[in-house]
Amino acid sequence: MTDQVYENWKAAFGSDSPEVVVRAPGRVNIIGEHTDYNEGWVMPGAMSRSLYILVSRATPLPPIGGNPIGKHHWIAADLNEELQFDHEEDIPLTKSIWAKYVLGTIHVYENDLGPLHIMIGGDLPIGAGVSSSSSLVGGLLLALQTLTGDQLTPKDLAQLSSRVEREIIGLQGGIMDQYAIMLSEKDKVMMLDCREKTFEFISASIPGTQWVLINTKVKHQLIDSDYNQRAVQCKHAVQIIQNNFPEVKSLRDVDENILIHSNLPETLYKRSSFVVKENHRVHEMKLALEMKDADRAGQLLQASHFGLQHEYEVSCAELDHLAHLANTSEEVFGGRMMGGGFGGCVICLVRDDGMKNFESKVMESYEKEFGFEPEIIHFSLSGGAEVISPPTP
Ligand code: GLA
Repeated sequence: MTDQVYENWKAAFGSDSPEVVVRAPGRVNIIGEHTDYNEGWVMPGAMSRSLYILVSRATPLPPIGGNPIGKHHWIAADLNEELQFDHEEDIPLTKSIWAKYVLGTIHVYENDLGPLHIMIGGDLPIGAGVSSSSSLVGGLLLALQTLTGDQLTPKDLAQLSSRVEREIIGLQGGIMDQYAIMLSEKDKVMMLDCREKTFEFISASIPGTQWVLINTKVKHQLIDSDYNQRAVQCKHAVQIIQNNFPEVKSLRDVDENILIHSNLPETLYKRSSFVVKENHRVHEMKLALEMKDADRAGQLLQASHFGLQHEYEVSCAELDHLAHLANTSEEVFGGRMMGGGFGGCVICLVRDDGMKNFESKVMESYEKEFGFEPEIIHFSLSGGAEVISPPTP
C-alpha cells in the first residue's frame, strides 16, 4: 500500500524522499457508543487499515530575514484532489473538507513550518465511520512535531487533535477516536475512561471467532448537526437531573434510580437511559472478553444496537438492515452499528467457519434491498500512529 503512496509522491514532488512519513490508523470500537462525550467508558482500537501522510517543507531553509519561498502543495490522492497556494494567500478551501482539517491542524500546531508539501493516501475508507478525519489530524500533528523535533507525548497529541476537531471543525465530539488512533497497542483494544483519561489494554480476540466490519457506504448526517444535537440533549438532561441530584456532573454519574427520579421529558429520558446502559455494557463486555465468552459478547452487541436504534436514534435503514441480518444469522454472535451513526459501518462478531456464508448472505440481501453492494472490511488491531521510514531514493 505504501508503495502506491510513494509513487504518487514522486510523481508530484520528484524523487527526493519526503522528510517524514506517518502511518495513522483508522479507529474501530467494540462497544461504548456516544458515551465518550458523557465522560463514560469506551472500548476502541486502531485498525490495520491506515492513512499515510508524507510531508516535507517546501523550503527547508528559508532565506535569512526573508519570507519562505515556495508554495503549499497538498494532495489527497484517494480523493483525486489537490491544492496549491502561496503561503500568504487565502487558501481556496471551497468544498475540500480534508483541506480544512489540514489547515486546522497546521494552525493549532504553533510552530510555523512555512509552506508544506503534503501527500495523503492509503487504504482507510473515507466517510465509513472509522474516523479517517481524526486519523488525518492526529497523523499530521505527529508529522509536524517530527519535523520540528518537538517532544509532545502521544497523549498530548491526542488531546491537541481533539481540540482541532472541536475548535476548528466544530464537532462536539469526545476523545475516543483520538486516543485510539494515537495510543493503541497492536492486537489489543483499549478500555478508556473518558473522564479520568486513563486506560488499560485488553485482548478482544475470542478463539473460533472474528471481528468484521460491513460498510453501508452511506452517510445521511448533515454536517454533523445530528451528532451535535445529541451532545446538547445530554447536557440538557444533566441540567434537569441536577435539580434533584446536584452532585451529578455528567451522565456518567447517573444510574437507573437517579433516572427514574429526575422528571426527564421522554426524549431526554430515552437518550440518558441509553447512555447509562451503554456504560454498563462496556464493563460487561470487558468481562465477556476476559472469559472468552462469545455468546455474552454477542448479546451485548445486540443490546447496544437496539439502544442506538430505538433510544439514542442515531441509526438508519441501511445500518438496521445489516445489524438485523447479523443478529438473526446463526453464523454471527452479534452485530451493531459503530461510531457516530447515520451511516458508516456495523461491527460483527462472526464464527470463523461461518464467515463465508455470512458474507454472501450480506452481499445478496443488501444489494436486493438497497440496489448496491456493501463493503466487507476484514481488519486486525494495530498499534497507534507512528513515524515510519521513507524509502531510500
Ligand atoms: C464519533 C466521535 C466520537 C464518538 C463516536 C460515537 O466517532 O468522533 O468521539 O462520540 O462518534 O461513539
